[in-house]
Amino acid sequence: MSRTLKGPEEELSPTLQVSKISESVEIERPTEVKDIPPPKLSIRNLEAWFGTKRALKGINLDVRENSITAFIGPSGCGKTTLIRCLNRMHEMTPGASAKGQAILDGMDMYDAKVDPVTIKRRIGMVFQKPNPFPTMSIYDNVAAGLKLNGIKDKKLIDDIVRESLEGAALWEEVKNELNKPGMGLSGGQQQRLCIARALAMQPEILLMDEPTSSLDPIASSKIEELVHGMKKDLTVVIVTHNMQQAARVSDFTAFMYLGELIEYGDTKQIFENPRMELTERYISGKFG
Ligand SMILES: Nc1ncnc2c1ncn2[C@@H]1O[C@H](COP(=O)(O)OP(=O)(O)O)[C@@H](O)[C@H]1O
Ligand SMILES: [Mg+2]
Repeated sequence: MSRTLKGPEEELSPTLQVSKISESVEIERPTEVKDIPPPKLSIRNLEAWFGTKRALKGINLDVRENSITAFIGPSGCGKTTLIRCLNRMHEMTPGASAKGQAILDGMDMYDAKVDPVTIKRRIGMVFQKPNPFPTMSIYDNVAAGLKLNGIKDKKLIDDIVRESLEGAALWEEVKNELNKPGMGLSGGQQQRLCIARALAMQPEILLMDEPTSSLDPIASSKIEELVHGMKKDLTVVIVTHNMQQAARVSDFTAFMYLGELIEYGDTKQIFENPRMELTERYISGKFG
């Protein structure tokens, strides 16, 4: 191949010195984008551990506001661990811990004063397998979080349930059966129900961990369409090991390997002109 790719020991991308943060670190900013939106979430030297095993080896990356960022990389490279760190879910695993910073609008979510519950409210999560609350109706699945947060106004809850189901492109299919069990829906509908449940909390960021990996192609493309439309209202991070999906749906792509961020850039650049040989090999299907 004629293209010269940089070796891993060289600098990955334009770097930026951050003066507000105690240590200055090299930060991955997406490359080759003309109008880069402001950072919504800045990840600094983030490490994640399972006991003594280090699953993330110091990640630095800015997630851009009102855009879709895809995390790609082979199985076991730390994609799930990373997004679980981004809403303080990682530490709920027994023996797991995290070090470093994840700065949401200027606030380090790992600061001792920060209540993880507020973080989970601001940063929603959709999991790999649809996981509606098994005993609850469609309506209650969406309303549960609101009720937990002390909202009692029935009209307000009705409105948010409807808006969230509309936002998840599920309303038309379920509006006449809101009291039926959520588990009675098809897989793709269940995943959209889980998206509606997350949207009901009006999150600023939605983290999605391979949200279509258990779905058929039609259900998957529905979710992709939905994700695409969401970025006008929120910031989306989507983990996927489907490269076509990352290329179709995201604005920025971060490629991870063995707990490290190898390359981060504009999605078009990553797929058409990767700067690292490892990225090139992964996206061309030579491993993974
Ligand atoms: N609960 C756990 N306990 C111990 N190790 C784990 C646990 N979950 C994940 N790991 C390890 O952390 C690394 C990253 O895993 P993960 O984030 O699930 O990767 P990915 O989502 O990219 O497939 C892997 O080596 C995996 O074996
Ligand atoms: Mg995973």
